This record gives sequence, structure tokens and C-alpha cells, in this order.
Amino acid sequence: MSRTVGGVDLTVLPQRTADELDAMRAAGRVVAQTLAAVRAAAAPGVKLRELDDLAKTTMYEAGATSSFLGYKPSWAPTAYNGVLCLSPNEVVVHGRPSGQRLKDGDLLSVDCGAVVDGWNGDAAFSVLVGERTSDEDARLVRATEEALAAGIAAAVPGATLLDVARAVDAVARRYGYAHLPDHGGHGIGRSMHEPPFVPNQPLAGLDRVRLHAGSTLAIEPMLLAGGGRYRHKKDGWAVVTADGRRAAHVEHTVAVTDDGPVVLTAA
Ligand code: MF3
Ligand code: CO
Repeated sequence: MSRTVGGVDLTVLPQRTADELDAMRAAGRVVAQTLAAVRAAAAPGVKLRELDDLAKTTMYEAGATSSFLGYKPSWAPTAYNGVLCLSPNEVVVHGRPSGQRLKDGDLLSVDCGAVVDGWNGDAAFSVLVGERTSDEDARLVRATEEALAAGIAAAVPGATLLDVARAVDAVARRYGYAHLPDHGGHGIGRSMHEPPFVPNQPLAGLDRVRLHAGSTLAIEPMLLAGGGRYRHKKDGWAVVTADGRRAAHVEHTVAVTDDGPVVLTAA
């Protein structure tokens, strides 16, 4: 989700019942299945559009619909034209399906949102394509996954969004990577994007947004190997690094529970 940072959103997170969390888990499971199919198919020579077609078939056969297809946030010039965001190399997020073919050594981030019975799941992974992968890219992906794991671990009852942001940010700092500015995670439920904005960096006021059992969040670190500046591609969707260096993006939909964080978009 993109939102200009600065103003902290003091929305009180809704408390979902066990039944509602089960319903979100069903949507999350379809997201996980879809992403697993796409991960297995991501190979040199494959077109981004082919991955989107595979995802669409997988989601629809599982009885879900896409939250991305036709989505038009206020900042976007067009309605979204796929069920996945496919963001290779210097594309950080919101890359659109196209005839572009994956190359050996690409770093691809894949984001998917599914709806089952009116409830949403949203998750993403980054993968290295083919054989000629670099240690540097592997380190960037590992850092982003560790940042997500740290953010998830911090999502416990009584904690605040500041704890989540600090946990994500500490990993980024330890590795020396920049965040994608102005972007972060979000509340999620009957809509894919619900308040509050869930930043990956500590901001004043975040300590006033408290998590409790039944809160549901999409946590999504986006880490950049180079400097933290970006621009949009001409299509108005794809966010690319200003310096052309690579980026990684991973995301899970998470429920805060008395038994600890539960990843709703796990297989
Ligand atoms: N999962 C993405 C996010 O939270 C949503 C992408 S919207 C789409 O930012 F329309 F691009 F698909
Ligand atoms: Co999201």
C-alpha cells in the first residue's frame, strides 16, 4: 500500500472473531497456493504475463477472486490489469504483467491478493530466477525475509505499530539496506487495504496504535540495495529504484492472537 508518511493514522484496529480469522485464513491459503505455483514456474524464458495467467487459473479454481484485478487506487492512472504484481530487478513493487521474459539471474518479486467469501489475503515473495544468481541478490532477499519475520514476531497483543516498525527497520539497518520511502503495509480484512498504514520505519505517533488479539495486518518490507530514492515507470504503476539497483519485497497477512502472531497467508 502506498500512503504519504508523516501523519500517523490513529485508527483503532478492528478485533476479528475466531470465525472471521478462519475466513481470512481460507483466503490466505489460496494466496499461498497461488504464490507456490508461481514460484515453481518462475524460470528463464517465461513471460510475466504467463505467470499472471497461471495465478489467475490457480486462484479461480480454488474458488477465490482477485483483489488486484480492476483495482484503481486514487493515485493510479488506470485500473490494474492483472492478478499479480510482478516486479523484476529494479522494479520494487507494482510491476504489471507484460510480455517481458524472465532472464537467468533476475530477482523477481511477486505479490498476490485473493478474496474468499468477502475476506482478503495479501502476500508476496522474492525469488532468484535460474542458475546465474548472485550472492548479493541472495543477501538482499534474505534480509527482506528476515525483516518480515522480525515484524511478524513483534505483532503481539499489547505491542504497538512502533514495535513492528522498529523490528523491521532494525534488520534493514543491520544489513545496510534502504527502505522504499512512503510505502508500507496496511490493515486488511473485508477490504485489501484498510487503515492503519503500517510503516516499515519508526515514525512519531506509531506508539499510539496498539495491537490486540484479533487485529489483522499486512506487513510488507521493501528493501533497496542502493539509495532510498524511487520513481514511477511511465505506466504510472511500477515503482523503480532511481539508481537502477535491485530491490526485494516480501509480505504476509498476519493475525495478532493471544497465542502469538499467526501467519494467515502460510501454506
Ligand atoms: N499488495 C499490494 C499492496 O499492498 C497491492 C497491490 S494493488 C494492485 O501494495 F492493484 F497493484 F494490485
Ligand atoms: Co499489501
